[in-house]
Amino acid sequence: MDIQLPAVGPGVETDDEPEEELPPATVEYLDYRVVQQQGWDIDDDDLFEKAAAADLDERHYGVMEAPMKESLLRSAEDHGLKWPFQCRSGTCAMCAGVLKGGEAEMDMNLFLEDHEVEEMDLRLTCTCQPESDTVQVVFNAIQMEYVRDIAQNRG
Ligand code: FES
Repeated sequence: MDIQLPAVGPGVETDDEPEEELPPATVEYLDYRVVQQQGWDIDDDDLFEKAAAADLDERHYGVMEAPMKESLLRSAEDHGLKWPFQCRSGTCAMCAGVLKGGEAEMDMNLFLEDHEVEEMDLRLTCTCQPESDTVQVVFNAIQMEYVRDIAQNRG
C-alpha cells in the first residue's frame, strides 16, 4: 500500500501565514530620580504631563519606539539610554519600573509578588515587553524606598 507523506521542505507552500510583525509601541519614560528631585508623587495623575512640560534631558524623560517582542530595558539601551539592571533575568529588582499607562507584561518574574505587580504596577523592565500601542513607564524605581527595601531584604 502506498503511503502519502505530506510535502515539506524548501519551496513547498503551506497554509501557514508568516507571523505578522506588529508595529512598535510608543513608550514614554521618566526617571524616578526626577520624580524625587521635583517633589512629585509617583501616584500623581499628571506625572507625565508635568514631565513633558519640564524641559528634561532625554536621559531622564522622553519617548521611544519599542518593538513588541523586545524588553523595555533592551529598547532603552537600543536608544542609548542607561537604565539600571543587574541580573537581566527577572530575579532581582535593580531594573524595576512602575507602569503608569498602557499594558506591559513580564515573561519572567522570579522576584516581585502578585500584589506588587497588580496593585503597585511594578514591572521588571529586563523581562517586560509592551502589550499595547502606548506605554508609560517610570524607570529607576530601585530609587524608591519600598523597592530598595525588598531588593535588600528578599531572597
Ligand atoms: S535586572 Fe534583575 S530582574 Fe531585571
